[in-house]
Amino acid sequence: MSIETEEQLEALRAAGRVVAEAIRAMRAEVRVGVSTRELDEVAACVFARAGARSGPQLDYGFPGTSCISVNDEAVHGVPGSRRLEDGDLVKLDVTAELDGYYADACVSVPVGRAFPGYRRLAEASRRALYSGMRAARAGVPINEIGRAVETTVAGYGYAVCRDLAGHGIGRRIHEPPNVPSFHHPRLGQRLTHGLVITIEPIIAAGDGEVDDTDDGWTLKTRDGSCAAHFEHTIVVTDTVPVVLTA
Ligand code: MF3
Ligand code: CO
Ligand code: CO
Repeated sequence: MSIETEEQLEALRAAGRVVAEAIRAMRAEVRVGVSTRELDEVAACVFARAGARSGPQLDYGFPGTSCISVNDEAVHGVPGSRRLEDGDLVKLDVTAELDGYYADACVSVPVGRAFPGYRRLAEASRRALYSGMRAARAGVPINEIGRAVETTVAGYGYAVCRDLAGHGIGRRIHEPPNVPSFHHPRLGQRLTHGLVITIEPIIAAGDGEVDDTDDGWTLKTRDGSCAAHFEHTIVVTDTVPVVLTA
C-alpha cells in the first residue's frame, strides 16, 4: 500500500511494534534445547496480548503463528517439535495483522556457540538489508534496492536466493511491488513517497537455489548450505525510510 494519511501511518506503526516486540521476546528464549513450537508460543502470547493476529495464518492458512526456519531451511519453516542445537542458526520471521494493517520482519539468531561461518552469514544478510534500506528512496528505481543488497552479499562471497523476494505490504502480507534482492533488469519502476515495502535478503552460503519440501511450506537450500534472513517493513520517503519494525 501507499500511505496517504497520518492514521494509516499510525496503524502501520502499531502493527510494526507488535512484530518488533514478538521478535524481541522470541529471541530472548532462543537457547539449546528449546523447540521451535515453544518459540512460536512466545509470538502467539505477544500477539494475543496486543490483539494482533498471525499474518501467515490469516492470509495463507499457515500452521503456526510465525515462520521458524533452521540452518538449511531458508524460509516458511513450520514451528514444531524440533529442538535447537548448539551451533544452529534460527530464523524468526514474524508477520502481524493489527486492525487490518500488516507488518513483517525477520532476524537470524545464532544458537549457543554458533559456528563462526553461520555468524558471518547472518551478518552479511543484516548488512545487506541495511544497504537495501539506504538505497530505498522516492524516485529511485526499485531494482536499485536489489543491486545494493546483492553487492553487499557478493562482497561476502555468498549468494542471494533469487526465488525469494521482498514485497509490498500493508493491507495484506504480500502486495505489489515485488522487491527482489538482486538487480532485476525489468524492475526499473520508481519508488514513490509513502510506499510500504519489505526488504528481505534471504542468502545462502552455497548457490542460493531452494526447493520445496514434503510439509508443503518449508523451503530448503538445494545444496544443504545454511541460509540467513533479515527483514524489515519500511515506508519509502524522499530521504531515509521509516522503519516500522525496528
Ligand atoms: N513472512 C513471510 C515473508 O516475509 C511470509 C510468510 S507467509 C507463509 O514474506 F504463509 F508463506 F508463511
Ligand atoms: Co517475513
Ligand atoms: Co516478507
